[in-house]
Amino acid sequence: MQAALDLARSGQGHVEPNPMVGCVIVRDGCVVGQGFHGQFGGPHAEVAAIRSLANPADARGATAYVTLEPCCHFGKTPPCADALIEVGVGRVVVAMEDPFDQVSGGGIAKLRAAGIEVTVGTRCAEAGDLNAPFLKRVQSGLPWVIAKWAMTIDGRIATVGGESQWITGASSRAEVHRLRGRVDAIVVGMGTVVADDPTLTARPAGPRAADRVVYCRNRLPSLDSNLVRTAKDHRLILVVGPEIDRQSLDQVRAAGAEIMPVDAVDLAAMARAGIQAIGESGATNVMLEGGSELLGSFFLASLIDECHVYVGAKAFGGAAAPGPVGGIGVAEIAQATNFKLRAMDQFDDDVRLIYRRFAD
Ligand SMILES: NC(=O)c1ccc[n+]([C@@H]2O[C@H](COP(=O)([O-])OP(=O)(O)OC[C@H]3O[C@@H](n4cnc5c(N)ncnc54)[C@H](OP(=O)(O)O)[C@@H]3O)[C@@H](O)[C@H]2O)c1
Repeated sequence: MQAALDLARSGQGHVEPNPMVGCVIVRDGCVVGQGFHGQFGGPHAEVAAIRSLANPADARGATAYVTLEPCCHFGKTPPCADALIEVGVGRVVVAMEDPFDQVSGGGIAKLRAAGIEVTVGTRCAEAGDLNAPFLKRVQSGLPWVIAKWAMTIDGRIATVGGESQWITGASSRAEVHRLRGRVDAIVVGMGTVVADDPTLTARPAGPRAADRVVYCRNRLPSLDSNLVRTAKDHRLILVVGPEIDRQSLDQVRAAGAEIMPVDAVDLAAMARAGIQAIGESGATNVMLEGGSELLGSFFLASLIDECHVYVGAKAFGGAAAPGPVGGIGVAEIAQATNFKLRAMDQFDDDVRLIYRRFAD
């Protein structure tokens, strides 16, 4: 199952909104076939594994290890449960049930009805972790929200003068571009647009071209900003509150920006309303790129699932230099958002820490 989980991860960025799935077929203690879901709309992991068999008869009586319940419905491809039944596997080991309502135990039931022994729950926690964004979207309709920031070793994301480029080195920034290239949307606040004039594209391009999203309460990006100037080539969405003036909206719309109006007025409510709308547009993974007021509003609304914290080997000092998360914060430690450390990687003199929200 570990091998199947490792294979599944190869589909990251290519298969969403589908889950990442891997499959390994074992016969007499030897791997005879393996595959993963590699592309949205392409063959599922079970079919890829069956196609990899040197001889289809090798699957007869074999055990298939699959990281997610085989599907039982006709979607973009025929049901995988049928494919496993057809090649005659004797046993299927499934890491976890698929909560997607067109599957939801139906694939397992179909295999059992065909006389195949099915074991469910092997490495279930790891499989759930791998597909946490998919599971969240299926269960709540909301996308997985990754907050990324770069800070100095003394916890500043900009100098007292507002400069933030660059806190980390070239290899950290290349890694951020890889993340940009696999998510569905990249979100910033208006303060960052004004301070940094970012383009928010992945360079080099990754498997997905993320929508660029700006949260705007009182002001809009100017027509000569990099985001608006490139709006006809790379989708730009402005999440706007009711207080924005209509004439300016018409101008940015004419320049190619799309408007996502939200009724809420306070920042946390706007954060939630915007992320809900982004989820409804089909996003699985959303990346927040700051600044601190935007992140503060997302923390306040309990919307952050994962943090990618880059620590650059610099110190800025200055009581007025901003930290990564602004807003009103919490007064008591008991109200803190709690995380678990998932990974720690070094990029030259920088460190990247990946934390996932800890739901108790
Ligand atoms: N080191 C890093 O990783 C990093 C990353 C990004 C930015 N930065 C730095 O951070 C600084 C900018 O941070 P900042 O806190 O001033 O600005 P910010 O968070 O980028 O933007 C704040 C503004 O965005 C809008 N906004 C934010 N959250 C919103 C929400 N939930 N709903 C609606 N609108 C929302 C509001 O716009 P209105 O003005 O329209 O009310 C708000 O005033 C810059 O110095 C930048 O260089 C550093």
